[in-house]
Amino acid sequence: MADLSIDFVGIKSPNPFWLASAPPTDKAVNVLRAFEAGWGGVVWKTLGEDPPVVNVHGPRYSALLSPDRQVMGFNNIELISDRPLATNLKEIREVKRAFPDRAMVVSLMVPCQEASWKNILPQVEDTGADGIELNFGCPHGMSERGMGAAVGQVPEYIQMVTEWCKHYSKMPVIVKLTPNITDVRYPARAAKKGGADAVSLINTINSIMGVDPRTLTMVPSTAGKGSHGGYCGPAVRPIALNMVAEIARDPETAGIPISGIGGIGTWRDALDFLALGAGSVQVCTAAMVYGFKIVQDMASGLSNYMDDMGIQSIAEITGRAVPTVSDWRFLNLNHISKAVIDTDKCIECGRCHVVCEDTSHQAITATKDGQRHFEVKEEECVGCNLCVSVCPVEDCITLRDLAPGEIDLRTGLPVSAEPLNWTAHPNNPMRVAA
Ligand SMILES: Cc1cc2nc3c(=O)[nH]c(=O)nc-3n(C[C@H](O)[C@H](O)[C@H](O)COP(=O)(O)O)c2cc1C
Ligand code: SF4
Ligand code: SF4
Repeated sequence: MADLSIDFVGIKSPNPFWLASAPPTDKAVNVLRAFEAGWGGVVWKTLGEDPPVVNVHGPRYSALLSPDRQVMGFNNIELISDRPLATNLKEIREVKRAFPDRAMVVSLMVPCQEASWKNILPQVEDTGADGIELNFGCPHGMSERGMGAAVGQVPEYIQMVTEWCKHYSKMPVIVKLTPNITDVRYPARAAKKGGADAVSLINTINSIMGVDPRTLTMVPSTAGKGSHGGYCGPAVRPIALNMVAEIARDPETAGIPISGIGGIGTWRDALDFLALGAGSVQVCTAAMVYGFKIVQDMASGLSNYMDDMGIQSIAEITGRAVPTVSDWRFLNLNHISKAVIDTDKCIECGRCHVVCEDTSHQAITATKDGQRHFEVKEEECVGCNLCVSVCPVEDCITLRDLAPGEIDLRTGLPVSAEPLNWTAHPNNPMRVAA
């Protein structure tokens, strides 16, 4: 079995799977069970100052379901921990003592005042916790009070608070970023400038789930009124992956350790984050939907994959795909692909024909000799991948890359062996010499 252990900014963990700061990590009884199930670490539910916050006692959660009732997106309006600080600190100490080999990171959110951070940091350090995560991401409730995303949207505040944490504590500082921002590189750069040991992302995305069609009121609601919440789960994963990759490939932040979060529920999801730059991953929604034992499949799946690929360590995976992420303008415009339908696998549902005919390039037949028949017309196909995306049969439609010299039936021209991107393309009035 492959070695899944990690050393993330000095925090050791038997595997890269941590539970994200959220209800699964809000008290000892949960976290002890999570560790028994095999989680490598946790980020404890965000602690704040006393008196504790008060949550609504109505629907805090709601879900966007797929037609077969799988949770695709998950929305919440929960605040940070609503238990007294001393209770949380006592339990953090006990759990860390019971499981010294697991990562115990404590999430924090206190007002943007030096005195507040100076006060809470030694109390957390005293528990024996391995590190802290600064919650600059919570987009609802707390942000109205000048905390959470309200800090994470102002790079100067991120830098300032990070500097306080580095000054008043010896613990590694992980800055958790909000996705509710135009360009995530700016807050990440600010975290680095402030001395952050790592960044984690994403926290949840501002969202409203919908309205009740009979009353035309927002849902879910608490006594007739709702408030926007934070969106997470599988639906946000591509957004999170892009943000992780942006930070990993930005020359100003390249190399900063990243803990990847957002829609992770399987080892495959985790692999995507690791390869795009993460050194650990965090999970919330999937644990809330399926329970703690999902970590066992995640760990064995990743381990089997590593064995099959001859990969010895998680560190070998981290960032491997980052050099393959590029700006659009550097993509090779001389590369040509064509769709190919495997007629043995085709169940003749016709979806590929409909979508290509109505919204792409009219490149798939529907009939031949009066019979249903689905075949790609290479002379029309632009290789857009739409038919592949909608075909209900896995690997029934694939894209074939044309070899250099092969004739592209759409243009009648041979495929060039020389790459040509937009920066040098003749149609680009701003082109530079190749
Ligand atoms: C109910 C709920 C409560 C959360 N509370 C916190 C919190 O207290 N602190 C925090 O940093 N993130 C909090 N989050 C955000 C998660 O830690 C995580 O960043 C987000 O859910 C994305 O991961 P996921 O797609 O695996 O759920 C919460 C998420 C949910 C669903
Ligand atoms: S790849 Fe695009 S253009 Fe080609 S057949 Fe499929 S949908 Fe049509
Ligand atoms: S969508 Fe797939 S299965 Fe359906 S007709 Fe097209 S190739 Fe066949």
